[in-house]
Amino acid sequence: MERKYMAPPYRIKMVEPIRMTTREERERLLQECGYNPFALRSEDVYIDLLTDSGTGAMSQNQWAALMLGDEAYAGSRSFYHLEKVVRDITGYKYVIPAHQGRGAEQVVLPLLVKHKGMYFISNMHFDTTKAHVELAGARAIDCVIPECFETEKYHPFKGNFDLARLEETIIEKGKENIAGIIVTVTNNSAGGQPVSMDNIRRVRKIADKYGIKIIIDGARYAENAYFIKLREEEYKDKTIRDIAQEMLSYGDIFLMSAKKDGLVNIGGLIAIKEDEELYQKCRTFIVPFEGFPTYGGLSGRDMEALAVGLEEALEIDYLTHRYDQVRYLGDRLLEAGVPIQYPVGGHAVFVDCKKICPHIPYYQFPAQAVVNELYLEAGVRAVEIGSFLLGRDPDTKENLESPLEFMRLTIPRRVYEYAHLDVVADAVIAVYQRRHTLKGLEFVYEPPVLRHFTARLKPID
Ligand code: F0G
Repeated sequence: MERKYMAPPYRIKMVEPIRMTTREERERLLQECGYNPFALRSEDVYIDLLTDSGTGAMSQNQWAALMLGDEAYAGSRSFYHLEKVVRDITGYKYVIPAHQGRGAEQVVLPLLVKHKGMYFISNMHFDTTKAHVELAGARAIDCVIPECFETEKYHPFKGNFDLARLEETIIEKGKENIAGIIVTVTNNSAGGQPVSMDNIRRVRKIADKYGIKIIIDGARYAENAYFIKLREEEYKDKTIRDIAQEMLSYGDIFLMSAKKDGLVNIGGLIAIKEDEELYQKCRTFIVPFEGFPTYGGLSGRDMEALAVGLEEALEIDYLTHRYDQVRYLGDRLLEAGVPIQYPVGGHAVFVDCKKICPHIPYYQFPAQAVVNELYLEAGVRAVEIGSFLLGRDPDTKENLESPLEFMRLTIPRRVYEYAHLDVVADAVIAVYQRRHTLKGLEFVYEPPVLRHFTARLKPID
């Protein structure tokens, strides 16, 4: 029977209790955490939509695989199992595990920066990726299509590169100054929005024309492949695995935070298609940063669970239900008139807070104000993806203005039920209805990098 939103393709074998708090408790807790829910204890959160990273539930096959972990420092059997799975999916020759995505970025990105004044160009850099680009002495340029910023307007692939701007940027900066093109699939920062196969193929052509390497930031590559199957006619009968393999065939380096589409709670990957010299350098630098090249900061059992999770994330029923959960929450909000990034992406609903709070300027963080109000309303933790996250210009130190001010409602994998999403939707709608009463925020403490994780704020009266 065809249903509008697919029921879970699993039944539940183990449960983790969660706790409701009172409004008075939440008022105190929010004040204590400096109006920054990153500092909340998760025990004080009823429904935690902070991230889909490392928050998923493992399957029985993954839990069983843990027992097979070979905890050898060097040459672990579990590494060779993981290597085989990654080689099969990516078609890349060299595989190095890392403890998570940013560990992989820390090793690879500096190796691509050959001299001062280099740039990485991406559809959109994720925040840790941008931080590693800047720590490596390079600069990050985003070249996403303009439709990405028109949240109410339908576009099937809002994560796509603006190809003309990509090529202009290469010419303007000089091809010798481009350290790499980073294809982020899906494009997390703009709503988990997919990149089409056609677009990736064209990026490859441009990269070849100028002799530039392509790095695929593949944290959510399986979700991207699912969207290609849904929305790109010629792929509708292909398997997710075939689509993923073709997507990755256009890259040179695959960096993955396995905490997303690896369906594990910790893990990351570096895979290199064929550049042996780069591989040798990565092997050298993985040791001081992450660990010996056959474990890279993971235990043998972590690598076993990842090897199984990578396969499960390519299953069509799993992906259909996952997308249907996101779509369900998006539809409920749209029906109530709440502005969101439309259509919804693969891992989250992004609420357009610039539209909700036009009375709060970007440097008073409108989306953070909505995030805080949502916590007060129902104990739901979301996260700001806007000017608070974006930070300051590394050269001028001015507050940067994000083109979008989002509250991200991120759905963990295989964790919550549709009933939880109803609680979330009702709470967001209640906040939306009293949006005119929300106030902007100012810093009490601001750390120098990645400030959104540890900053303390207070509402402006
Ligand atoms: N790339 C993308 C596209 C990401 O979304 C993330 C993490 C990373 C790289 C870094 O990976 O966390 O394993 O070190 N995104 C998480 C999020 C944190 O909440 O979106 P990591």
